[in-house]
Amino acid sequence: MAGDPVNISEFQELARQALPKMNYDYFSGGAEDEHTLRENVEAFRRITFQPRILIDVSNVDVSSSILGYNVSAPIMVAPTGMHKLAHPEGEVATARAAAACNTIMVLSFSSNSTIEEVASSCNAIRFYQLYVYQRRDVSEKLVRRAERNGFKAIVLTADTPKLGRRERDIRNKMVVPMLKNLEGLLSVEVNSEGGSKLEAYASQTMDPSLSWKDIGWLKSITSLPILIKGVLTAEDARMAVDAGVAGVIVSNHGARQLDYAPASITVLEEVVDAVAGRVPVLVDGGIRRGTDVFKALALGAQAVMVGRPVIYGLAAKGEYGARRVIEMLRDELELTMALNGCHCVKDITRSYVRTECDRLRSLL
Ligand code: FNR
Repeated sequence: MAGDPVNISEFQELARQALPKMNYDYFSGGAEDEHTLRENVEAFRRITFQPRILIDVSNVDVSSSILGYNVSAPIMVAPTGMHKLAHPEGEVATARAAAACNTIMVLSFSSNSTIEEVASSCNAIRFYQLYVYQRRDVSEKLVRRAERNGFKAIVLTADTPKLGRRERDIRNKMVVPMLKNLEGLLSVEVNSEGGSKLEAYASQTMDPSLSWKDIGWLKSITSLPILIKGVLTAEDARMAVDAGVAGVIVSNHGARQLDYAPASITVLEEVVDAVAGRVPVLVDGGIRRGTDVFKALALGAQAVMVGRPVIYGLAAKGEYGARRVIEMLRDELELTMALNGCHCVKDITRSYVRTECDRLRSLL
């Protein structure tokens, strides 16, 4: 591939060539049969546009705001673990890329760079993603550190009471680099008997008893707004709002947890309806094109988050690559808006897309 990649899938191919197999498999793989992994991408392909014509689109504005923070486009960086398996500069490079694009990065609990390193590396608006460990005191200390270091929200990942079965990692006997944030806080003896060390580590640390009442605990230890990540049903969306969260993230964890969970984009609309405007709804999973971003916004998301594409950019070309990926999605979104006849993000409404359900309904 000569020169710069022209789309995300070319970045993915460069990342595949650049990384050791274990690392590439960790980033690109999903749970079990990887049905949901494929569906996350395929489901976007089944949504088509209903574009309007003869609208003056000489000026298109993709800027937006998320929880009151202005961003250059409604495209955020999803929390993904262990960026040093992609590039030696790890999450610091990713944060700088997000800052250069004037968007929000969610730092993963499983980062290789520390909260402090990321905070001092740039002025990106940052949210902190939390896993709740059996050792609540460890999770609590990390929340407080994030708060002290200027992170603006906590993203509670609620779909990981146990780690999904990621067979690529099991086969590769995945080795987990040190999570530096946990240095001095936790020591875990990992004996995986030849399987994935990540799985062995997770089973000793994650708290499978986490439940709705623990939102109260989280609120008692932080004054930051809390977003809940991993919502896939209207029922849970309502419970999240009732529990007082500041935002809901429709996500199946990039298809790494429960295989045969629905593709996120297919349940977005029912979550949006259930939330009924009370808090913002974000979505992630399978977004690889600006057209995908447009579809998610048309179905009611306030913004999208992207996981793997940013890692592929980082692996292929470091901070520059991560930045190019975000810029590419933003530019594609701008073109998609122009070709659909939208001037600004607020113009993107349900009427611009046709889903499978719409097609089925029209046959009845
Ligand atoms: C993730 N994801 C994730 N989510 C989370 O809440 N905490 C984490 O530490 C991680 N780690 C992680 C690692 C890797 C390698 C991937 C691919 C994903 C899930 C992530 O936040 C997001 O939900 C998905 O990545 C979105 O799907 P796409 O954009 O990767 O298709």
